[in-house]
Amino acid sequence: MIRQTEKVIIDLDGVTRVYKVGIEQIRALDGIDLKIRENEYVAIMGPSGSGKSTLMNVLGCLDRATEGSYTLDAQDTTKLSDAALAHVRNERIGFVFQSFELLARLSALKNVEMPLIYSRASWWSRRKRAKTVLERVGLAGRIKHRPNQLSGGEKQRVAIARALVCNPSILLADEPTGNLDSKTSEGILRLFDQLHQEGQTIILVTHEGHVAAHAERTIRMKDGKIHSDMENPDRIPPAANGEAKP
Ligand SMILES: Nc1ncnc2c1ncn2[C@@H]1O[C@H](COP(=O)(O)OP(=O)(O)OP(=O)(O)O)[C@@H](O)[C@H]1O
Ligand SMILES: [Mg+2]
Repeated sequence: MIRQTEKVIIDLDGVTRVYKVGIEQIRALDGIDLKIRENEYVAIMGPSGSGKSTLMNVLGCLDRATEGSYTLDAQDTTKLSDAALAHVRNERIGFVFQSFELLARLSALKNVEMPLIYSRASWWSRRKRAKTVLERVGLAGRIKHRPNQLSGGEKQRVAIARALVCNPSILLADEPTGNLDSKTSEGILRLFDQLHQEGQTIILVTHEGHVAAHAERTIRMKDGKIHSDMENPDRIPPAANGEAKP
């Protein structure tokens, strides 16, 4: 059963997102009602074009609903100005993408430090925090490497560290293992398992059943709607010895 007693962190009510292309209108999201509680681990699945990334972009405050409301951490984001929404995104959201989206010219450390530049923290405390998070994802030995000097799994760990550096309320990951081989993917999924056990709320999009099996709950989308929403009966339990390996 989905845990009912904990704090609701995400509350979508009738969220619709319509894209206009020429005279055509595409209802990428069509009346989504969804509640997610603190420290849930949720997988979103569904066919290509069903609206998964559109939903993630709305959840991540990268995009807005055309209709409906989105309450994040008890704050109605629908009414916020663009600047206020960008602030919420920086403080509360960590986003991980399939293609890593790292800045090629910067070291791992500088990539991870980037989101902190908008905070008031001193240079020294920013650097310290970025180092701590890189250690957390198992990359203490790679902080000076630029993205092209890292493996795919290491690049994704840098992206995860960057997503975590501001202590986000939610970690959103859109096909985070989509560009990785299966062994590297498992390492990333073990890291997500550990972050979840430490209290992180995680929402992950995937096409693969074995990836979704790490989550507690799976939401299936179809044609911009939630087709099903249930607890994972065959969840892969988090590894007991679970040290994240670089
Ligand atoms: N910027 C856009 N402008 C117009 N239509 C868009 C835009 N982005 C997405 N769409 C359309 O919205 C629908 C949902 O797209 P979305 O990217 O959310 O699907 P998805 O479930 O993430 O698919 P995939 O599994 O292929 O990543 C699709 O029909 C897509 O063509
Ligand atoms: Mg997508």
